[in-house]
Amino acid sequence: MINAQKPKIWYGGDYNPDQWEKPVWDEDLRMFKLAGIDVATLNVFAWANNQPDEDTYEFGWLDEMMDKLHADGVGVCLATSTAAHPAWMAKKYPDVLRVDFEGRKRKFGGRHNSCPNSPTYRKYSVRMAEKLAERYKDHPALLIWHISNEYGGYCYCDNCAEAFRAWLQKRYGSIAAVNKAWNASFWGHTFYDWDEIVPPNVLSEEWRSWNGRTATNFQGISLDYCRFQSDSLLEAYKLEYDAVKKFTPNIPVTTNLMGAFKELDYHKWAKHMDVVSWDNYPSLDTPYSYTAMMHDLMRGLKEGQPFMLMEQTPSQQNWQPYNSLKRPGVMRLWSYQAVARGADTVMFFQLRRSIGACEKYHGAVIEHVGNENTRVFRECAELGSELFKLGDSLLDSRVQAKVAILFDWDNWWAVELSSGPTIALKYVEELHKYYDALYQANIAVDVIGVDADFSGYDLVIAPVMYMVKSGVAKKLEEYVQAGGSFITTYFSGIVNENDIVTLGGYPGELRKLLGIWSEEIDALLPSQSNRMIVTASSEGLKESYGCGMLCDLIHPEGSSVVAEYGEDFYKGMPALTVNKFGAGEAWYVATSPEAAFLQDWLPKLCAERGIEPLVASSPVGIETSLREKDGAKYLFVLNHNAEASRVSLGLQAGTDLLTDKRLTGDVELAGRDLWIIKLDA
Ligand code: GLA
Ligand code: ZN
Repeated sequence: MINAQKPKIWYGGDYNPDQWEKPVWDEDLRMFKLAGIDVATLNVFAWANNQPDEDTYEFGWLDEMMDKLHADGVGVCLATSTAAHPAWMAKKYPDVLRVDFEGRKRKFGGRHNSCPNSPTYRKYSVRMAEKLAERYKDHPALLIWHISNEYGGYCYCDNCAEAFRAWLQKRYGSIAAVNKAWNASFWGHTFYDWDEIVPPNVLSEEWRSWNGRTATNFQGISLDYCRFQSDSLLEAYKLEYDAVKKFTPNIPVTTNLMGAFKELDYHKWAKHMDVVSWDNYPSLDTPYSYTAMMHDLMRGLKEGQPFMLMEQTPSQQNWQPYNSLKRPGVMRLWSYQAVARGADTVMFFQLRRSIGACEKYHGAVIEHVGNENTRVFRECAELGSELFKLGDSLLDSRVQAKVAILFDWDNWWAVELSSGPTIALKYVEELHKYYDALYQANIAVDVIGVDADFSGYDLVIAPVMYMVKSGVAKKLEEYVQAGGSFITTYFSGIVNENDIVTLGGYPGELRKLLGIWSEEIDALLPSQSNRMIVTASSEGLKESYGCGMLCDLIHPEGSSVVAEYGEDFYKGMPALTVNKFGAGEAWYVATSPEAAFLQDWLPKLCAERGIEPLVASSPVGIETSLREKDGAKYLFVLNHNAEASRVSLGLQAGTDLLTDKRLTGDVELAGRDLWIIKLDA
């Protein structure tokens, strides 16, 4: 548990006193106290301040600030400051600068801008991490390390090209094996020597397609380049991780992730993080269930351990097209949404709003007016006192789910690098459709990787499992054999880890488990649709549902047909099948159904398997989650609606931790309000 040193839900966020004159510091500390802020993330972008030239390190401001915060009872999440290199470094050592997707060598500017394979970047970022760790290893304010910031962005420079070749050599052993993995005989791409391999970008294999996605001639090299860049940034992170651990083996280390961020394989990253943290920036129109899914994805990175909400805005962003204010109550509600789904911290970007550059219109606890008499500050202070009241009651409690949705970065990359069958297919959106139906039905879900243990789940759902990595088909067979239920969809079981098609009929390695052969895949125009006609007697389902985007034309091979297509030349062919396999069953949803189908079908499947919803019934806009610890159960009920809503708790009864009210049966929850009900034992 990260919060051991400060056993409550940490409350605070990014604080940049290095951008301010000293008299402001004391004002800040006064207001932190008023707001109940007890953690400050320091030093995120202070590399240039801390190291004005190659040999000089100056930490005076940080010494002073660490002491001041400690004296005031505020702990520090200490960043290593390496997410934006100093200007002198870019001038003197241009290898720190990236080469972009268009093949242009960047000049100094921006942030998150260093080449992860630059020897200079590695040398100086590690040295900075060491200096900080050595200096503050015994500082009582130090709670946790925050390495760099929001890693991301790919580089295509010569150092990366060299490192890519070495990475390939390690992965494949020989150039012949690379040629095979990439099917290089296509378009005469056979490589004879390692140095013929160049990074895939607009100068070689890739371009930005008109839908904004990266398109490629060769999925193999493009996929490997995603893996390689994710690994390269991870390597830069790991070097800093090791540097701070040398001095502070017992201080936890994190870096802030970004939910479903495509560029980095966070399942790999999380293995090297002591605790997962992430930055949550929904906009006014982001579905609540999408945000919930992101929290669940982040929780799933480390087997359900609590994570940190590292950043959210107290009010508005600056970088979205339309930067809406968070309506009264929404900041509090969304903070608890994170806690409900497993966060043990509530932290902001930023504590004080800056005066210049692009984030001056980004919300902050302390606004430009500079005092505590603002709506935003008052709401922050109210939340601060509530979190104080909650104490350690929720810390380290766990969400228990019987349903898992599989999320896989390699598969995501491969699906969206695929030329055909449709540009409409968006991996995360397809997952969200399944997630949303379960969310609306108050069924707890874990979002996990394909390497995770499936045995604790009654239902595992893998929408669009296009890529089947080695060992996964066997693992799924064992899971179903032992009694588990598995759902997958159209465009699954097509390729192996290298995006090479599994011959012998789709869905390849999943064919036996699903008991079907998929002969063809039809891509529908946005204006076209088909229907799923439910044929088997299925209580709770309507007779027919809309479907579209992709329609697999399948033949049952031992499976039974539950629904068939209602239109087109494949009218009457199966659209939904179920295959008994050992003690369990495997479902194939051959097309992308309308939401109503999943809303009717998934809760029904759950009910048949004894998977209970968290509350008996609730209107749209109500969100539920359950955290458990030491036998105690905490039921979160959140009302995202602006108006009051009735929730049926059924026979469950308990006491709301925030108001001490007793709750049971049918109860009304005020608009944008929530309960954390400690259920009676
Ligand atoms: C990210 C960064 C912060 C800040 C915020 C603004 O999360 O980590 O430094 O730029 O975005 O929303
Ligand atoms: Zn590079």
